[in-house]
Amino acid sequence: MADFDPAQALGEYQRRIESVLDRQLAPEATPDARLIEAMRYATLSGGKRLRPVLVYAAGATTGADDDVLDAMAAAVEMVHVYSLIHDDLPAMDDDDLRRGRPTCHKAFDEATAILAGDALQAAAFDTLTAGVRHLPGTTALDALAELARAAGLYGMAGGQAIDLGACGKPIDVAELERMHRLKTGALIRASVRLGALAGNPTPDTLERLTRYAECIGLAFQIRDDVLDVEGDPEVLGKACGADARLDKATFPSLQGLEASRERAVALVDEALAELQPFGQEADLLRFLARYIVDRMN
Ligand code: IPE
Ligand code: IPE
Ligand code: MG
Ligand code: MG
Ligand code: MG
Repeated sequence: MADFDPAQALGEYQRRIESVLDRQLAPEATPDARLIEAMRYATLSGGKRLRPVLVYAAGATTGADDDVLDAMAAAVEMVHVYSLIHDDLPAMDDDDLRRGRPTCHKAFDEATAILAGDALQAAAFDTLTAGVRHLPGTTALDALAELARAAGLYGMAGGQAIDLGACGKPIDVAELERMHRLKTGALIRASVRLGALAGNPTPDTLERLTRYAECIGLAFQIRDDVLDVEGDPEVLGKACGADARLDKATFPSLQGLEASRERAVALVDEALAELQPFGQEADLLRFLARYIVDRMN
């Protein structure tokens, strides 16, 4: 048998989630054509699909079922896309470009973009509920709670509130880290934990995967902050300098670029150390950890 190629697996899972999302957000028989059109516009054709691929990669370490993973992967991407649509709104970061195209509110209108985000969040829980229904014991409820917590006050939305409140105000590195762990880390953590829960993780496996996810989640947002300073907007598919324009608290603004890069690399090393007891089944998780700090978009 040929050796497992994680770069190829990444591409295959990216294509796989594209078709799952296309199916889940089918335009047939929906009450409002414009709303589903906006949801599909923001969700399909673009994005690295990191969170769905983390679901599949974590599931590979616990012997998870592919159908359950498909539903979880679609659900985390829907919450992510909803967060991007709202993040780009004039009341938040006021951005015109996302994934190389006009942002949802530019391509449609603000009210439609707000509703597309709302409906995507609901669709995420609908999709997840259908997918986990037959998991044993309380696992289905655990999975739903996992996503709810990561999306809300104690996760993405809570972190976004800190982000907006900190514009133009000095915060210290501890608070910045807390903000990043919430606004971005929480959903990445949930992606890994969901994938693991779809199979049969031992308590030690779940703890290790959780610590892995917390490290790469923080590293991911540090890299995002660094790319906002030194990235190429053509490659990124979104504007650079957006954080400076809004006087955002970021890792580079507090610590400088070099220290930010070093912190991200150290976090990835920490994440990789958590995977030490695993074999080839964790190779995609290892690959993704490195990809997070090396990525140019
Ligand atoms: C961008 O996320 C927003 C953050 C949470 C930093 P991604 O960089 O994963 O965006 P896509 O999904 O690939 O477009
Ligand atoms: C976004 O952080 C975090 C979200 C929860 C969407 P950013 O505001 O830095 O993300 P980008 O740079 O616009 O993608
Ligand atoms: Mg933002
Ligand atoms: Mg933004
Ligand atoms: Mg950013």
